[in-house]
Amino acid sequence: MSTLAWDDAPNPSPSVNPLMESADATGLGEIERGAARVSVSDKAMINARADVNQLLPLKYKWAWEKYLSGCANHWMPTEISMQADIALWKSRDGLTEDERRMLKRNLGFFAASESLVANNIVLAIYRHLTNPECRQYLLRQAFEEAVHTHTFQYIVESLGLDEGELFNMYREVPSITDKAAWALKHTQSLDDPNFQTGTTEADQHFLKDLVAFYVIFEGMWFYTGFAQILSLGRRNKMVGIAEQYQYILRDESIHLNFGIDVINQIKHENPHLWTPQFQNEIRGMLKDAAELEAAYGRDTMPNGFLGLNAALCEQYMHFIANRRCAQLGLEPVFPPAENPFPWMSEVMDLKKEKNFFESRVIEYQSSGALSWD
Ligand SMILES: [Fe+2]
Ligand SMILES: [Fe+2]
Repeated sequence: MSTLAWDDAPNPSPSVNPLMESADATGLGEIERGAARVSVSDKAMINARADVNQLLPLKYKWAWEKYLSGCANHWMPTEISMQADIALWKSRDGLTEDERRMLKRNLGFFAASESLVANNIVLAIYRHLTNPECRQYLLRQAFEEAVHTHTFQYIVESLGLDEGELFNMYREVPSITDKAAWALKHTQSLDDPNFQTGTTEADQHFLKDLVAFYVIFEGMWFYTGFAQILSLGRRNKMVGIAEQYQYILRDESIHLNFGIDVINQIKHENPHLWTPQFQNEIRGMLKDAAELEAAYGRDTMPNGFLGLNAALCEQYMHFIANRRCAQLGLEPVFPPAENPFPWMSEVMDLKKEKNFFESRVIEYQSSGALSWD
């Protein structure tokens, strides 16, 4: 985990919006000729007074480090061969009907979710996070989400899947729609062109959007999806897709950790937002999200496979939800749960798995920069 800048003073007058014009937050307002130079102490995560067009001096080194790690992890889906996957998908008995259903629903969930996450970054989060080093990371993350969406286009094209069926699942398969609709509800107020941070209520709305997308969408729901596909890969099935998911998982792990650092830093600078009541609301969100995921698990895996079934995925969600609570400094929402997929942390180490997957991927990563949480 990165270290937060714990020495910053909380915002002095939290109930007043310090931004006279919303253009100050966008960085596209009129230039203030001869204004004082930006100092680190003017910089803030939200409602900053400092010019958002000036990256330096850096205040949040953790955000800059994540930007550098994201760049070091560059990959493209087309570098991964789909030959073995195509042969298996087309063979009559290569996959069971249950495996095919799970795979298609998993791809359908991710295909639209990557776009939802990207749209939330660009159209909701970016505008209100008033710090240039965080925005630098958001721009990198937005590109990575584009690479992830590209992955699903490449898979659909390689396997000859029905693109309409896959990309519409988030509107047509109830257990997928329920998750997307739940998350979208938290970004809708930010989507309002008149929405501005600067009041306790608005800033709490913003925090909820960050929790819904970074902690829940990317940090909980994606993880069941990764476990589903990577468990197929461990059984030597759909190894190209499994390898692409490993790269997505590596990216997503940084997205999640960035989101957690952002939330914790906002909390630190604005302690009045993090009331016991608000903490309970956030815990309630994590609990609801785990329940939606359990329903998705039952829908995608009604019969289960070797080492993977809906009950284990539900247990995994309880384990993950409690872990996310701890990362946010919240009390757990479920009784202690053991991780039913300890192999997930091994799969995260791409170097260890390289021979297993017979990877042909170009290694952009410099050896010292690969880190997981
Ligand atoms: Fe993504
Ligand atoms: Fe992401």
